[in-house]
Amino acid sequence: MIADLHNHMLFGVDDGAKTEEEMYRLIDASFADGVRQLCFTPHYHPGYFGEHQKQIASAFELAKQYAAEHHPELALSLGNELRYERSCIEWLEQGRCQTLNGTQYLLVDFLYPEPAENILDAMLRILNSGYTPVLAHVERYEKFHRDLREVDRLKAWGVILQVDAQSPLGGLGRGSKVRSRRLLEAGAVDFIASDAHDLTSRPPQLRPCYDFVARKYGEDYAQHLFWEEPLRILHSNE
Ligand SMILES: [Fe+2]
Repeated sequence: MIADLHNHMLFGVDDGAKTEEEMYRLIDASFADGVRQLCFTPHYHPGYFGEHQKQIASAFELAKQYAAEHHPELALSLGNELRYERSCIEWLEQGRCQTLNGTQYLLVDFLYPEPAENILDAMLRILNSGYTPVLAHVERYEKFHRDLREVDRLKAWGVILQVDAQSPLGGLGRGSKVRSRRLLEAGAVDFIASDAHDLTSRPPQLRPCYDFVARKYGEDYAQHLFWEEPLRILHSNE
C-alpha cells in the first residue's frame, strides 16, 4: 500500500485540478496506483494561491463523498503546502492554512533558487515555533546540494525531507534525478509523494518510483518511504 501526502488534486483552489471531474479522475488514478491514504495539500501562497478555505472545504467534502462511494478503502485527509514566509506561523494560527492532517508537521516549499542559508534559517524558525517542517521536494533546490552537509544538518534537527516521485526517474529533469538519487543512496529521504497536479505532465503516479526504490535500495526502504513514514506522520497526533 502507498500513501500520498503531497498533491494538488482538490479542484479550483490552486494550479492543480481545474474541475470537479478532473479531481475525481485524479482520485481514481491514485487509487488504481495503490494509494490508500491521500492527504490533499493545496498551495497556500498569499498573492498567488491564497484565501480559498471555503472552496477547499467544499472540494474536500465532495472528494470524501466520492471516495466513500467509489473507493471505500481510501482514507482522505487535508493539509496545505505553504510557500515559506516569515509570517507563515501567524497564517497557521489565524486558521488561514493548515498542517498535515492537523499534526505538528508543516509542508513548506520555496522558490527553487532559494539560497541554502535561507532554507536552513526558515527550518529553524519553524522548529522554534513548535512545528516540524516537511521540506517539499528537497531535491529541487539546487543551491542546497553542493554537498550533503546542509542535508545532514536538517536531518540532525529532525526536519522531514520529501522527494517527488517523478524525480528519481528523471521526470523533473536531470538535476533533480541526480540529487534525489544521491539522497536515496545516503538514506536521507523521509518519504516520497506524487506532487500530482494533473493527469498528464504531473500525474498521481507513485508505483513506478516505488518499484524503482524497491529494486535498487530494497523493499524495506520502499515500504518505509511510501507507507510507514507518511502514515506515522499522518497519525502522529493520535
Ligand atoms: Fe506541491
